[in-house]
Parts: sequence; structure tokens; C-alpha cells
Amino acid sequence: MTATSVAQAAYLVAALLFVGSLAGLSAQTTARRGTVLGMVGMALAIVATVALALERSARPWPVTAGLILLVLVVGAAVGTWRARRVEMTQMPELIALLHSFVGLSAVLVGYGSYLTAPAGDVVHRVEVFLGVLIGAVTFTGSVVAFGKLSGRLPSAPLTLPARNALNLLVLVLCAALLAWFVAGGAGVAPLVAMTILALALGWHLVAAIGGGDMPVVVSMLNSYSGWAAAAAGFTLGNDLLVVTGALVGASGAILSYLMCRAMNRSFWSVVLGGFGATGSGPGAGAAGAEGEVHETSPDAVAGLLTAARSVVVVPGYGMAVAKAQHPVAELAERLRARGVEVRFAVHPVAGRLPGHMNVLLAEARVPYDVVLGMDEINPDLPTTDVVLVVGANDTVNPAAQDDPASPIAGMPVIEAWKARDVVVFKRSLATGYAGVANPLFFRENTAMLFGDAREQVDKIVQAL
Ligand code: TAP
Repeated sequence: MTATSVAQAAYLVAALLFVGSLAGLSAQTTARRGTVLGMVGMALAIVATVALALERSARPWPVTAGLILLVLVVGAAVGTWRARRVEMTQMPELIALLHSFVGLSAVLVGYGSYLTAPAGDVVHRVEVFLGVLIGAVTFTGSVVAFGKLSGRLPSAPLTLPARNALNLLVLVLCAALLAWFVAGGAGVAPLVAMTILALALGWHLVAAIGGGDMPVVVSMLNSYSGWAAAAAGFTLGNDLLVVTGALVGASGAILSYLMCRAMNRSFWSVVLGGFGATGSGPGAGAAGAEGEVHETSPDAVAGLLTAARSVVVVPGYGMAVAKAQHPVAELAERLRARGVEVRFAVHPVAGRLPGHMNVLLAEARVPYDVVLGMDEINPDLPTTDVVLVVGANDTVNPAAQDDPASPIAGMPVIEAWKARDVVVFKRSLATGYAGVANPLFFRENTAMLFGDAREQVDKIVQAL
């Protein structure tokens, strides 16, 4: 038995483990198993790939092994250091940065493969070209997404005149360069020209997309990075990379679609960009968002909660910023001990990445069965006594339903205002991520509890 046949068998097992991992990750109760399956699959894949590389290496094997070990150690050290230091609120930008590495490696693999075998056949050249194209778009797109999410680049969309025509022109030019590259004779020149165009295209595509659409962009880049990896798999003749890339590409595309639905946006309106250019800056869409604000205190909220029969907590990005999940979970526990029904309502795009709130609530050991989705909770809200909005804003904005001129018009939201009483925990009347004013704060049945969510929830727990 050669290392190749053993590695092929290991690849097949790893591919099945990845499929099992995805299946596990689709539900909270099985997510841990999904993560373990993915880790085992990846360990198997790395061992098999290293074994193959050693067998096929033209150099003496200790040299190849030393080189692989060196990059593994450097990569693992940097990865461990970053992952340990990253805050939960910085997760989306870390993911965006990691996607940029996948894109860059697809570009490097493409060049490496072409330069070692420049006389390759047509199929090989098409593989190289497409791998570099998708990789370069993913690379700069992810760098811009990272810059926007981390506040290093302005989050407002860049709207160049005729930007869609510009993108189309770049694609047409790339198609012409592909024909030139496949015909041969011009060497590496068409590939280099396309790389420059693709880098610019990736930059422009994401720069044109505004604040509120960044979650979809990150998941879209996740999909691109998958296709870039699959293309690299074809170039390298590595079946597992093809399978894994396709899994990532397809699941990223499905996730993007689901997120678009959750924000009531068409996929194309996100991809083509420009959303948020007009009317979604801070203070925009403020029509109707004026009036009297009713301020409340932790003691008053504690009184309201003890007299309630049913309470729904709507967590949002502010809960993550304040790290309020533990006191919130404790509050829920105490109320439950007093016979109050407490449930959590999670909006599909609450926070800054898919599943953000679910992760925080799981960390604070909130039982899964009281964490409900938007569609499950909305019908119950008119008969709910108190809704606690903890650091959420856009996801509970009634303007999405009432104001057709609002930039978030049509976005499905948690209908918190339908409850008897609403308490909103936030530090000011500032807008949320989409930069849209929120009329909920001025409603008759809404009370604002200003201040850091963690400190305020702590005070309520003490008062109880
Ligand atoms: P947001 O609408 O962003 O509102 C969060 C609110 O939390 C802010 O208005 C802020 O108000 C408050 N806050 C911040 N720090 C706080 C603290 N320490 N204590 C108390 N409150 C605090 O959040 P959301 O309702 O979760 O909506 C998510 C938004 O992000 C949507 O627009 C969505 O499209 C977008 N988005 C979602 C994702 C995904 S996939 N989930 C990714 C990127 C973007 P103050 O400043 O007044 O305190």
C-alpha cells in the first residue's frame, strides 16, 4: 500500500467527517459534536496531506518535513495567539481576515502551479486562471470587509458613477484575458494583468457595500473563499480540497441567501452594492422618531418584572459589548424561580455575525429550549407582559413595518412594541448599526433604562 492510496482513503473519511460536521453545526444541541467532527476531519486531512507531500517531494524528505513543520508552527502560533485574544465582538473582522488568507493562498497556488508547469494543457490553464481570479477578488474584498468592520475604513458605501458598468467591464476584460492566456504564447502576462484587475474588482465590490449589509458580505466572502479553495484543489489535484471548498462555497451561499431574507433584501441588491448611500446615515429615517422619552430606574424595572407573568428578553449587539449575558442569564433564572415565564427572542441578524447571540446565551448557560427565533416569538408578543430589549436596536425597529421611506423598510423585526410594557437598555438614544432612528424609544409603553447594560442588569438583580 502506498502513501497515496492511504491518503486517498483518509481524504474520503475526512470529507465524510466534514459533511457530518456541517450537519452537527445546524442545531445548537449538536453543535459541539459538529465542531469535534470538523476538528478530527481537519487533523486527518493535514496528516494525510503531509504524508503525500513527503512521498512526492523531489527534495530529500527531511528538508520537506522541516519546511512544512516550520510553516505549521508559525501559522499555529499566530492563529492561537489571535484566537485567544479576540473579543467576541471582533469575531466578524477576524473571520473576514481569515477569508483574505484563503484568497491569497489560492492566488499563490495558482501562480506556483503555472510557473512550475507553464506548458500545461488548456484545462490546467483555465483552472489556474479561475483560481487566481476568485482568489484575488476574495483577497482584496476580505481586506476591505475587515477594514470596514474594524472601523479602519469608512463603513459608508463607495458609490462611483456607473459602478455596475465598471464591474461588468472588468469581467469582460478578464474573459478576454482568459482567452489570451489559454491560447498561450504570451506567457504569464495575461495572468498578471487579470490579477491586477481582479484585485481592484474585489476592492471595489466590497467598498460599494454599506454598513448594514456587511454581515451578508462576510458570508458571501466565506462562499467565495470556498470556491477559491475548490479551484486551488483542482490545480493541485487534491480531491479533498475540492470537496471542502465546495462545501464551504455552497454553505456560504445558502447562509448569504438566508441572511438576505432576514433583512428583506434581494441578494442582488446586496451584491451590487450602494445600499445605505442615501438616507441611512445617522439620524436618517428619523421621521416619526421624535417625542417624549420615558426614563426608568433599575428599582422600577425590578418591580415591573416581579409583577409580570411573562417576560421576553430581546438581546442585541449592545449585550455583547457590555458582556451582559451572565447577569441577564442570572436575572432570567431568578425570575423563573419566582414563577415568571422568561424566554429569549433572537433575531436572525442580531449582533454582528450569524448565531452571535446564541453563542453568548449558551456561554451564560441559558437553556436552549427558552431561546426562540423571531418567527416563533412574534405571535406571542401581544400577550407578553414585559419585553426587555438588552442592547438591541435595528432588530426591534417598528419603522421597518410602519415607514415605507425607512432604509430598513420591509426588514422583518421582533415586534417588541406589541407587548404591554417594553424596557430598552442602552446608553443613549443613538442609532444602531444601520444608522436608522428608532421610534420604539418614544412609544407610550416604552421605558428607557439608560446606561451600560451590564451595570443596569446587575442593579436589577440586586433589587430583586
Ligand atoms: P444594533 O442595531 O447595532 O444596536 C445595538 C445597540 O446597542 C446600539 O444602539 C447601542 O446603543 C447599544 N449598546 C452598545 N453598547 C452598549 C452597552 N454597553 N450597554 C447598553 N447598550 C449598548 O444591534 P442589533 O439590534 O443587534 O441589530 C444588529 C444590526 O447589525 C442590524 O442592523 C444588522 O443588520 C447588523 N449586522 C448584523 C450582523 C449579523 S449577521 N448578526 C453582522 C453585521 C451587522 P447606545 O450606543 O445608545 O448604547
